[in-house]
Amino acid sequence: MKGEPVKPRVLIVDDEEVITTVLSTILGAWGFEPRAVNDPSEVLRILEKEEFDLILLDIRMPEISGLELLERIKGLHPGIPVIMITAVGTAEAAVKALKLGAEDFITKPFDQDEILNSVNAALSRRRREEELFGLEVDLSGEFTGALNVIDTILNQIEMDSYIIPGHSGRVSRHVLALGRMMDFPYDTLLELVVAARFHDIGKVFLSSDLRRKPVTAFGVRERTKYENHPIAGEKLIRDLKLFQKAPEIVRHHHERWDGKGFPDQLKGEEIPMESRLISVVEVYDAIRFARHDTQGHLQAENLALSFLKENSGSMFDPDMVRLFISYIQSEVK
Ligand SMILES: [Fe+2]
Ligand SMILES: [Fe+2]
Repeated sequence: MKGEPVKPRVLIVDDEEVITTVLSTILGAWGFEPRAVNDPSEVLRILEKEEFDLILLDIRMPEISGLELLERIKGLHPGIPVIMITAVGTAEAAVKALKLGAEDFITKPFDQDEILNSVNAALSRRRREEELFGLEVDLSGEFTGALNVIDTILNQIEMDSYIIPGHSGRVSRHVLALGRMMDFPYDTLLELVVAARFHDIGKVFLSSDLRRKPVTAFGVRERTKYENHPIAGEKLIRDLKLFQKAPEIVRHHHERWDGKGFPDQLKGEEIPMESRLISVVEVYDAIRFARHDTQGHLQAENLALSFLKENSGSMFDPDMVRLFISYIQSEVK
């Protein structure tokens, strides 16, 4: 299989089994795919054979120091973000680790929010590099600075969501692949990926309670507030003055093919094609990675796909549904 798996793979390296078990459990429950290693001498061999999106690395281990291992990992695989696991008394080593290229460090005893914030921030930086940079964007300092600010806000929004964190990253990754399949020109791809990544940025104005509720549980007042998020998002992206079409795409990501969506009740091809595409992908992801989901992943995936099929022609553009389903079925199994 080529390309990035839907579930981010995290390699956890710590000589203490209890630590790798705790971290594996936390990350597994949050939709990551953890792989625990208790013997640090195996790490480089494993990295030769398997691909990971992130490494959690203990700073203090017998036989080899975490810093030495970090240096070797960075030499061989500079693209993989590494977060150090530190304990009391390792502050100095943690600073050295950051100089050697570690993304961040988390401290024992663990705080779940701290871990997830750190992991999500590292992954979203990496995804942004892969996706936007994959388009060979000539990024000026201004551009990256602005994107970093928005990304940080987005991470906070995603911590308080009824969807497992990483929604925007997953959506933009799929949308980029689909845009490439459709042979979109470079400028269209860039606007599309940016819009996909920031489609829900307008949720920054919603209370975290509201963000955590599934849409089906909203009262009338809550719904009105919620339905403003595409407009708020459009304004934020427009204010950046970096993108042409992205603001409009964000505004229309909740329109429906039958004209019953929001905010403008656009219908059919009146809705920008990019918004029609994002809408299919983002609803798929919201069902597939619902936080309250108690079913297995396979059931969630089937549920998401049947929702798309059932609502093709009413909620969604049938062509986009067909395209997405054929793409996702050929993707990661
Ligand atoms: Fe949305
Ligand atoms: Fe969304």
